[in-house]
Amino acid sequence: MRQAGHIGFGIRPSARRRGLAAWALGRMVDEARGLGIDRVLLVCEAGNVASARTIERLGGVFEERRDTEHGPALHFWIPTGESGT
Ligand SMILES: CC(C)(COP(=O)(O)OP(=O)(O)OC[C@H]1O[C@@H](n2cnc3c(N)ncnc32)[C@H](O)[C@@H]1OP(=O)(O)O)[C@@H](O)C(=O)NCCC(=O)NCCS
Repeated sequence: MRQAGHIGFGIRPSARRRGLAAWALGRMVDEARGLGIDRVLLVCEAGNVASARTIERLGGVFEERRDTEHGPALHFWIPTGESGT
């Protein structure tokens, strides 16, 4: 989980830039909240501006940059609003 995060996402190229990733990620954050998860980890490649902006749009807070075998990765946490109790 620390390597790949809780949620991964991708939109086919011909459907990008229409708000679909932001919408879908929002629904997954809702799902996590429903499961009682208080925050979700998102990991994206450093330099993937589209992914980082999508994560930030959903309230993602940057935690750290990590070097991995696939290159540098950025870690973000999105709070779900669930109390976690
Ligand atoms: C990352 C990805 C899922 C974004 O999908 P999308 O449906 O085009 O994204 P949205 O239309 O919902 O846009 C969400 C935000 O990202 C921004 N964004 C999207 N594509 C962008 C791009 N190429 N460059 C800069 N910003 C971009 C949008 O402007 C929006 O930010 P805003 O609300 O601040 O304006 C899509 O580019 C993709 O499938 N990429 C390949 C797979 C991938 O990298 N997945 C993520 C792995 S962690």
